[in-house]
Amino acid sequence: MRPAYDARLWYRQIPLRHSVRAYDGRSVPGDMLDSLRPFLSSFSDLCRGARGVFLNNAGDLFTGIVGPFGRITGVSTVVVFIGDTSVPEYMEGLGYLGEGVILHATSLGLGTCWVSGTFNWSRTLSRVVRGVNERVVAICALGFPAERENGGQKLLSKLARSRERKPIDAIAGGLPVDKWPAGVREALEAARLAPSAVNRQPWFFEVAEDGVTLSVQGPGSGYGSSKRLDCGIALLHFEVAARALGIEGDWKLMGPPHVGRFVFGSGER
Ligand SMILES: Cc1cc2nc3c(=O)[nH]c(=O)nc-3n(C[C@H](O)[C@H](O)[C@H](O)COP(=O)(O)O)c2cc1C
Repeated sequence: MRPAYDARLWYRQIPLRHSVRAYDGRSVPGDMLDSLRPFLSSFSDLCRGARGVFLNNAGDLFTGIVGPFGRITGVSTVVVFIGDTSVPEYMEGLGYLGEGVILHATSLGLGTCWVSGTFNWSRTLSRVVRGVNERVVAICALGFPAERENGGQKLLSKLARSRERKPIDAIAGGLPVDKWPAGVREALEAARLAPSAVNRQPWFFEVAEDGVTLSVQGPGSGYGSSKRLDCGIALLHFEVAARALGIEGDWKLMGPPHVGRFVFGSGER
């Protein structure tokens, strides 16, 4: 049976989550991994072509940007996010699934950081891939935050403008705001807080009376593009907020340049 997520629990984590780049060296205890494990495999139809695997003692997978600069430190436990490239929507699936793991980890008091750039493709990673269609797309640090980040990590957070987000009118359009169905503003606020690679926030939401369409902003919207992973994260944030706020509806995935349409009132998942 598929695990159902607790929308209200995950919704509360959205403003609390931020990228943690310095950890205290402890592995994540087994009971916490057990609580996270159900979300490593498909917990929704939207997790298409996506799965995750835990690795322990895996801190050496992280690299710096130049030499050790900006390297994530003190990590032991890592989640490896693997996509099945034979499934067109595997990138949005990975964003959705991975962010589920991350919001649940946040609810357990763990720090996390998505990493798709600053990691080594190592023999360790090649061992977790099954068959020719799978590829490791990203990894995620998981652990207990250290008291302080070092200078390189602080600078990296600043460079990635970690806390900054585009204003809502830069990421949403369609109906005038005062005509938006109840709760949509809050759900879009939750989507706005989604993390993305280099904080690029490559999403746009078109609000209509009967639904909300999410599209990739700018070039590079094709299936398999990394922006679709970012958009998969935003899909989950919107859906979590919608469910927590009692907005009925479901995402239906769409082809490029769109990612999906949340159709109001479409009933069960
Ligand atoms: C798909 C993805 C890939 C990322 N890759 C890296 C990375 O390689 N190195 C890194 O330090 N941060 C990485 N990040 C973290 C982003 O820089 C961070 O999420 C963004 O700046 C927003 O900050 P926040 O997570 O603190 O809200 C990545 C985030 C995402 C979603």
